[in-house]
Amino acid sequence: MEQMDGTSVTACERCPELCASRSRIVNGVGPEDAAIVFVGEAPGATEDERGEPFVGRSGDVLDNALRDVGLARTDVRITNCVRCRPPDNRDPTSEELANCESYLDRELELVDPDVIVTLGKVPSEHLLDRSVGITSEAGSVEEVRIGGQSRRVLLSVHPAATLYDRSQRSTFEETIATAADLGGAGGSGGQSRQESTSNERERFAGREPPQ
Ligand code: URA
Repeated sequence: MEQMDGTSVTACERCPELCASRSRIVNGVGPEDAAIVFVGEAPGATEDERGEPFVGRSGDVLDNALRDVGLARTDVRITNCVRCRPPDNRDPTSEELANCESYLDRELELVDPDVIVTLGKVPSEHLLDRSVGITSEAGSVEEVRIGGQSRRVLLSVHPAATLYDRSQRSTFEETIATAADLGGAGGSGGQSRQESTSNERERFAGREPPQ
């Protein structure tokens, strides 16, 4: 049985191994009209326990970087490619990514953000459908067709990478600043499109992607 209610998957049994390992389905959080959507790989142990994406150590890194550019976690939408925790924190398989793809496509269609930020190699490769050297490509922007729609995707290193390799911290922070610009925040906070002014939207609508 599978069921989606708006942006939330309320029941799904597409991946037998994940059904066995999960405590719950971890859906995206944040405004359903957010200008910026962050897409991670899959829930970890803390996310599985609390039912919310990026609430462990990686989430702290993301929250701090958002705060530095004048954004709160609640200003943006945060979701994952795969909504159930893989056992032993392994990467999701290509089959699991494919099984969950229509849910992410639907969420992105409903939210219709100005920019999608892929957090790490797995979501970057999944959304771009090609191999990605995330360390060298972080900060770059591509137009990608997702669910039949052209979307602006900004590639980022995974927040956890900054914990293990401090040299990645500035790359991550600069990418979050770019996300804020592309999402129309410009570092002044306030991120759902209902709240952003039409001037801001116009100002960023024709912006050239950074190199
Ligand atoms: N890493 C991810 O990719 N997603 C989460 O929700 C948490 C950590």
